[in-house]
Amino acid sequence: MQRGESVFNTLALIKPDIAQDEKAVSHVIRRITGRGYLIKDRVEIKLSNAQARAFYAEHAGKPFFDGLVAFMSSGPLVALLIEGDDVIRGWRTMIGPTSPAAARQLAPQSIRAVLGADGPRNAVHGSDSAESAQRELSFFF
Ligand code: RTP
Ligand code: MG
Repeated sequence: MQRGESVFNTLALIKPDIAQDEKAVSHVIRRITGRGYLIKDRVEIKLSNAQARAFYAEHAGKPFFDGLVAFMSSGPLVALLIEGDDVIRGWRTMIGPTSPAAARQLAPQSIRAVLGADGPRNAVHGSDSAESAQRELSFFF
Protein backbone atom coordinates (compact mmCIF):
# COMPACT_ATOMS: atom_id res chain seq x y z
CA MET A 1 0.00 0.00 0.00
CA GLN A 2 1.21 3.46 -0.79
CA ARG A 3 1.71 5.85 2.08
CA GLY A 4 -1.20 8.24 1.66
CA GLU A 5 -3.20 10.83 3.52
CA SER A 6 -5.06 8.20 5.53
CA VAL A 7 -1.93 6.79 7.17
CA PHE A 8 -1.65 7.99 10.75
CA ASN A 9 0.13 7.33 14.02
CA THR A 10 -1.67 6.70 17.26
CA LEU A 11 -0.99 5.63 20.81
CA ALA A 12 -1.82 2.11 21.93
CA LEU A 13 -1.40 1.97 25.67
CA ILE A 14 -1.40 -1.30 27.56
CA LYS A 15 -2.69 -0.49 31.04
CA PRO A 16 -1.34 -1.68 34.41
CA ASP A 17 -3.94 -4.45 34.80
CA ILE A 18 -2.32 -6.47 31.99
CA ALA A 19 1.03 -4.79 31.24
CA GLN A 20 3.00 -7.29 33.32
CA ASP A 21 1.13 -10.29 31.91
CA GLU A 22 3.36 -11.46 29.06
CA LYS A 23 0.63 -13.51 27.40
CA ALA A 24 -1.79 -10.61 27.44
CA VAL A 25 0.80 -8.20 26.05
CA SER A 26 1.64 -10.71 23.29
CA HIS A 27 -2.05 -11.03 22.49
CA VAL A 28 -2.40 -7.27 22.07
CA ILE A 29 0.71 -7.07 19.91
CA ARG A 30 -0.46 -9.94 17.70
CA ARG A 31 -3.83 -8.24 17.27
CA ILE A 32 -2.11 -4.99 16.21
CA THR A 33 0.33 -6.55 13.76
CA GLY A 34 -2.30 -9.03 12.53
CA ARG A 35 -4.47 -6.09 11.57
CA GLY A 36 -1.61 -4.79 9.44
CA TYR A 37 -0.49 -1.96 11.71
CA LEU A 38 3.20 -1.29 12.32
CA ILE A 39 4.64 -0.94 15.82
CA LYS A 40 7.14 1.87 15.32
CA ASP A 41 8.24 2.35 18.93
CA ARG A 42 7.67 0.83 22.34
CA VAL A 43 8.39 1.96 25.86
CA GLU A 44 7.59 0.56 29.29
CA ILE A 45 7.04 3.25 31.90
CA LYS A 46 5.37 3.79 35.25
CA LEU A 47 3.51 7.10 35.48
CA SER A 48 3.55 9.19 38.62
CA ASN A 49 0.21 10.32 40.01
CA ALA A 50 0.83 13.79 38.51
CA GLN A 51 1.67 12.35 35.09
CA ALA A 52 -1.49 10.22 35.10
CA ARG A 53 -3.54 13.28 36.05
CA ALA A 54 -2.01 15.21 33.16
CA PHE A 55 -2.52 12.35 30.72
CA TYR A 56 -6.26 12.16 31.51
CA ALA A 57 -6.67 15.92 32.14
CA GLU A 58 -9.80 16.03 29.96
CA HIS A 59 -11.56 13.98 32.67
CA ALA A 60 -10.47 16.08 35.67
CA GLY A 61 -13.36 16.65 38.06
CA LYS A 62 -15.42 13.67 36.88
CA PRO A 63 -16.49 11.18 39.55
CA PHE A 64 -14.24 8.44 38.22
CA PHE A 65 -11.14 10.64 37.84
CA ASP A 66 -9.33 9.89 41.11
CA GLY A 67 -9.83 6.14 40.71
CA LEU A 68 -8.68 6.31 37.12
CA VAL A 69 -5.52 8.22 38.06
CA ALA A 70 -4.77 5.84 40.94
CA PHE A 71 -5.17 2.85 38.63
CA MET A 72 -3.10 4.33 35.81
CA SER A 73 -0.21 5.13 38.18
CA SER A 74 -0.41 1.79 40.02
CA GLY A 75 2.13 -0.05 37.88
CA PRO A 76 4.06 -0.07 34.63
CA LEU A 77 2.39 0.62 31.28
CA VAL A 78 3.47 -0.45 27.84
CA ALA A 79 3.12 2.40 25.35
CA LEU A 80 3.19 1.56 21.65
CA LEU A 81 3.45 4.00 18.78
CA ILE A 82 1.49 2.35 16.02
CA GLU A 83 1.10 3.37 12.40
CA GLY A 84 -1.35 2.36 9.74
CA ASP A 85 -4.17 3.21 7.43
CA ASP A 86 -6.97 4.86 9.43
CA VAL A 87 -5.28 3.52 12.55
CA ILE A 88 -6.76 6.04 15.00
CA ARG A 89 -10.31 4.90 14.32
CA GLY A 90 -9.29 1.31 13.57
CA TRP A 91 -7.48 0.83 16.88
CA ARG A 92 -10.41 2.34 18.81
CA THR A 93 -12.70 -0.15 17.08
CA MET A 94 -10.37 -3.02 17.96
CA ILE A 95 -10.27 -2.10 21.66
CA GLY A 96 -14.06 -1.88 21.95
CA PRO A 97 -16.41 -0.04 24.32
CA THR A 98 -14.99 1.61 27.46
CA SER A 99 -16.53 -0.83 29.93
CA PRO A 100 -15.37 -4.45 29.62
CA ALA A 101 -18.86 -5.64 30.56
CA ALA A 102 -20.37 -3.59 27.74
CA ALA A 103 -17.61 -4.76 25.43
CA ARG A 104 -18.48 -8.40 26.13
CA GLN A 105 -22.08 -7.65 25.20
CA LEU A 106 -21.54 -5.40 22.20
CA ALA A 107 -18.16 -6.40 20.76
CA PRO A 108 -17.20 -9.83 22.11
CA GLN A 109 -14.10 -10.06 19.93
CA SER A 110 -12.76 -6.69 21.08
CA ILE A 111 -9.62 -6.48 23.19
CA ARG A 112 -11.48 -5.06 26.19
CA ALA A 113 -14.02 -7.88 25.98
CA VAL A 114 -11.25 -10.47 25.96
CA LEU A 115 -8.71 -8.93 28.35
CA GLY A 116 -10.59 -6.32 30.38
CA ALA A 117 -11.81 -6.98 33.90
CA ASP A 118 -14.17 -4.24 35.07
CA GLY A 119 -14.40 -0.50 35.69
CA PRO A 120 -11.09 1.21 35.05
CA ARG A 121 -9.34 -2.13 34.51
CA ASN A 122 -10.11 -2.17 30.81
CA ALA A 123 -6.70 -3.34 29.55
CA VAL A 124 -5.91 -0.83 26.82
CA HIS A 125 -6.25 2.76 25.70
CA GLY A 126 -6.49 4.36 22.30
CA SER A 127 -6.33 8.03 21.34
CA ASP A 128 -9.74 9.30 20.25
CA SER A 129 -8.68 11.83 17.57
CA ALA A 130 -5.69 13.03 15.61
CA GLU A 131 -5.21 15.86 18.12
CA SER A 132 -5.35 13.46 21.07
CA ALA A 133 -2.93 11.10 19.32
CA GLN A 134 -0.39 13.88 18.84
CA ARG A 135 -0.71 15.07 22.44
CA GLU A 136 -0.66 11.59 23.94
CA LEU A 137 2.22 10.29 21.83
CA SER A 138 4.31 13.21 23.04
CA PHE A 139 3.91 11.89 26.59
CA PHE A 140 5.84 8.76 25.80
CA PHE A 141 7.92 9.32 22.66
P1 RTP B 1 -9.47 5.43 27.27
O1 RTP B 1 -9.36 6.93 27.18
O2 RTP B 1 -8.87 4.87 28.53
O3 RTP B 1 -8.99 4.75 26.02
O4 RTP B 1 -11.02 5.05 27.40
P2 RTP B 1 -12.23 5.61 26.53
O5 RTP B 1 -11.76 6.62 25.55
O6 RTP B 1 -12.98 4.43 26.04
O7 RTP B 1 -13.11 6.30 27.64
P3 RTP B 1 -12.98 7.77 28.26
O8 RTP B 1 -14.33 8.36 28.26
O9 RTP B 1 -11.86 8.52 27.64
O10 RTP B 1 -12.62 7.44 29.78
C1 RTP B 1 -11.28 7.27 30.21
C2 RTP B 1 -11.25 6.18 31.24
O11 RTP B 1 -12.02 6.58 32.37
C3 RTP B 1 -12.77 5.50 32.88
N1 RTP B 1 -14.19 5.81 32.80
N2 RTP B 1 -15.04 5.47 33.73
N3 RTP B 1 -17.40 5.16 35.26
C4 RTP B 1 -17.48 5.78 34.11
O12 RTP B 1 -18.49 6.23 33.66
C5 RTP B 1 -16.24 5.94 33.35
N4 RTP B 1 -16.13 6.56 32.20
C6 RTP B 1 -14.83 6.49 31.87
C7 RTP B 1 -12.43 4.29 32.06
O13 RTP B 1 -11.42 3.60 32.77
C8 RTP B 1 -11.86 4.86 30.78
O14 RTP B 1 -10.89 3.99 30.21
MG1 MG C 1 -10.54 8.25 26.10
